Amino acid sequence: MAGQRLNGKVVLITGATGGLGTATAELFAREGARLVITDVAEGPLRDLAGRIEALGAEVIAAPLDVSSVPQWDDVIDLVRNRFGTLNVLVNLAGIVDWPGVEDTSEDAWDRVIAVNQKGTWLGMKAALPLLRGSGNASVINTSSVLGLVGSGSAAAYQASKGAVRLLSKTAAVEYARQGVRVNSVHPGVIATPMIQEILDEQGDQQPDIQRTPMRRAGRADEVAPAYLFLACDDSSFVTGSELVVDGGLTAY
Ligand SMILES: NC(=O)c1ccc[n+]([C@@H]2O[C@H](COP(=O)([O-])OP(=O)(O)OC[C@H]3O[C@@H](n4cnc5c(N)ncnc54)[C@H](O)[C@@H]3O)[C@@H](O)[C@H]2O)c1
Repeated sequence: MAGQRLNGKVVLITGATGGLGTATAELFAREGARLVITDVAEGPLRDLAGRIEALGAEVIAAPLDVSSVPQWDDVIDLVRNRFGTLNVLVNLAGIVDWPGVEDTSEDAWDRVIAVNQKGTWLGMKAALPLLRGSGNASVINTSSVLGLVGSGSAAAYQASKGAVRLLSKTAAVEYARQGVRVNSVHPGVIATPMIQEILDEQGDQQPDIQRTPMRRAGRADEVAPAYLFLACDDSSFVTGSELVVDGGLTAY
């Protein structure tokens, strides 16, 4: 269809059944992408695949724990066999742990780092041979406003998201002349299952919303277009950048 910005591009999304993942996958489907949706949540993955097929897009759904090397290898084999190429990797899988430095348990630290930080690296490491081969590729990693500024809590999460920010920049430099762009997205407070409990309890009185100049949480469909911009050729000269989508939270 004319005007589709991802026409025919093969896109792999992790954490695809989450709030941001679903909005991104559905937008990308409408923009003509061929999708590989992955998540640890297998039931929701099948449901999402059905909705994407109903939008007329080609889709395969595969279970993937991003902290597992063998699972990454299996998914990349699947992509290679089915499509023979990969144009876009969207790393969206993530978990949060709220305690500060002293109250964070070692287990929680290890799990958050394994999923958010190591999972992002493993995804790039597994996918880069196919991405490089496509000649025109984009990696979009998900950091956070909590990868830019300190909040006084969520020690492991902040450490992981800060790492994702700089991992993205060094990969951008390393692969700039190999046809692979790498950028990070930094959402602010976005109403998704990850923080739904907090929003249900506190509503717009939630302190980060009160610090957000727009005084509201963002919606997933307000963040997905940032991923679309970085995935499509409109951003052909954009690499190593941080796209902040936070209603102004980090503007002052
Ligand atoms: N919602 C926000 O306010 C906000 C703000 C900044 C950054 N983010 C980041 O955006 C990304 C998406 O979060 P969301 O808000 O959609 O949350 P979400 O909880 O709705 O989605 C996260 C998804 O990741 C999946 N997941 C968890 N562990 C996984 C693993 N080991 N392997 C594969 N998938 C796994 C979950 O099943 C879920 O579908 C995350 O990286 C999150 O840290 C969210």
